[in-house]
Amino acid sequence: MIFAANLKCNHTRASFENYAKEINSYQNNEDEIFIFPPSTAFSNLKLNFFQGAQNFYPCKNGAYTGEIAQEHLEEFNIQSVLIGHSERRALGENEEFLRAKFDFAKNFDYNIIYCIGESLETKQAKKSLDFLKNQLDNIDLNYNKLIIAYEPIYSIGTGVSADSKDIEEVLNFLSQFSSNKFLYGGSVNQENIKTICGLKNCHGVLVGSAALKADNFLKMIQIAKG
Ligand code: PGA
Repeated sequence: MIFAANLKCNHTRASFENYAKEINSYQNNEDEIFIFPPSTAFSNLKLNFFQGAQNFYPCKNGAYTGEIAQEHLEEFNIQSVLIGHSERRALGENEEFLRAKFDFAKNFDYNIIYCIGESLETKQAKKSLDFLKNQLDNIDLNYNKLIIAYEPIYSIGTGVSADSKDIEEVLNFLSQFSSNKFLYGGSVNQENIKTICGLKNCHGVLVGSAALKADNFLKMIQIAKG
């Protein structure tokens, strides 16, 4: 299974060092664990999980004030990136820009966790499937290091995950278009992780708030597998 933690704008360099050590102590040969810390906290430790970047600018280096480029990821041996998170889309990352990020990351052979998700309004209008399919039309679905994370916007950070039935319907639909793995994200916690990981076509989870403490995240992994 795939267990991914998006720490968003939380943790400092000092606190992430402890976080990384805690995750490192978890011995695991079966699962893939991805952790996305803030970029100022990237770790130089030898890690037994994939350290990823929440954000990057699609360039090797250059005149892009305030951005993080490929060279900076390379320095920390980072080869995994998150693209399309709804919080980045809300800041203005449009399909064209997401496509540029995707193509750039693919060119470097990175693991890409590509996030898609609809609003409550779209869901209530019964337009979820079309909307999500459109979001995927933007990228190469045959790229073999692509993982698609379905994260309905209405469930992110709300404490209430989407209905299992709805998640399954979406993942079943999307899996027609890609043989890559799918994650669910949006208020995944200790109570719901096992059910969610057991859904058809669900290969793991992308966790925000409930992963902010390493011990909690490790406990969730145990629950999902137990
Ligand atoms: P959440 O965040 O688990 O806090 O809902 C998930 C995400 O934004 O990836």
